[in-house]
Amino acid sequence: MVVKTAVVTGSSSGIGQAACARLQAAGWRVAGLDVHAEDTGGWRDGFQGIRCDVGDPASVEAAFARIGRPLHAVITCAGVLRTGPLESVPIEDFDLVMRVNLRGTFLCAQKALPALEASAAPDAPSRIVLLSSIAALRPKVSGGVYAASKAAVSQLCRVMAAEWAPKGVLVNAIAPGTVDTPMVRAVSNPNSSAGYRPSGVSPVGRIAQPDDIVDLMMFLLSDGSRYMTGTTIPVDGGTQAAFIPPASA
Ligand SMILES: NC(=O)c1ccc[n+]([C@@H]2O[C@H](COP(=O)([O-])OP(=O)(O)OC[C@H]3O[C@@H](n4cnc5c(N)ncnc54)[C@H](O)[C@@H]3O)[C@@H](O)[C@H]2O)c1
Repeated sequence: MVVKTAVVTGSSSGIGQAACARLQAAGWRVAGLDVHAEDTGGWRDGFQGIRCDVGDPASVEAAFARIGRPLHAVITCAGVLRTGPLESVPIEDFDLVMRVNLRGTFLCAQKALPALEASAAPDAPSRIVLLSSIAALRPKVSGGVYAASKAAVSQLCRVMAAEWAPKGVLVNAIAPGTVDTPMVRAVSNPNSSAGYRPSGVSPVGRIAQPDDIVDLMMFLLSDGSRYMTGTTIPVDGGTQAAFIPPASA
């Protein structure tokens, strides 16, 4: 059986870290790219850690040159969250969020394309899975810049899907609600996050764990999703399904 190779960005924390573990357990060879990655200097037991800044074209190009071919899937989890009302959000925060979430996602998908196309077969398309957010579909006050970056990721997903389907590459995005990761823990205190609050408990009665998101990711990498491309799929426990008015006093 062919061992498949995947690139996971944002591999040192949260959803990306969980994705690496699940892919390795499923027999994939995994290259983990992260600005905080411990660089392994090559493949070790089916894993390669590469220190990479996804917003920097030279860094991304060097990382994909090291990974080489074959390459069957890319999963873009690298992301940052900065919060605050739009009237006062610092331009440095705006630039960082767009640089990592949008430019970084685009650069990694674009640099990966030739290797993904080369590894695709008519009955085995290559895959790109982008991390969007429920914020792309239902933005929140004090999260406007992040929401704009993720809405842009979902739009990129649609056009990549249409342009790259003839090359044998399927592209889908996942839109998680609040997931229990360091990103969310950092902004869960309203006193230190300029009024921003994570969505919190969903109608299902809890926030997501990273594996709730990775379950959909594994489906989007599987044969079962062979006719899906260009979608953004919520995994949010029903958070945006209907407005829940605050309980009356
Ligand atoms: N946690 C949530 O509630 C949630 C909800 C919706 C979407 N998401 C998205 O899921 C993805 C993963 O989020 P998470 O919660 O696991 O966050 P996280 O903070 O735990 O992990 C993000 C990782 O991205 C890496 N990273 C940041 N800037 C980078 C750069 N320039 N180059 C390379 N790596 C960089 C960080 O070092 C970190 O390891 C993100 O795109 C995030 O926006 C998260």
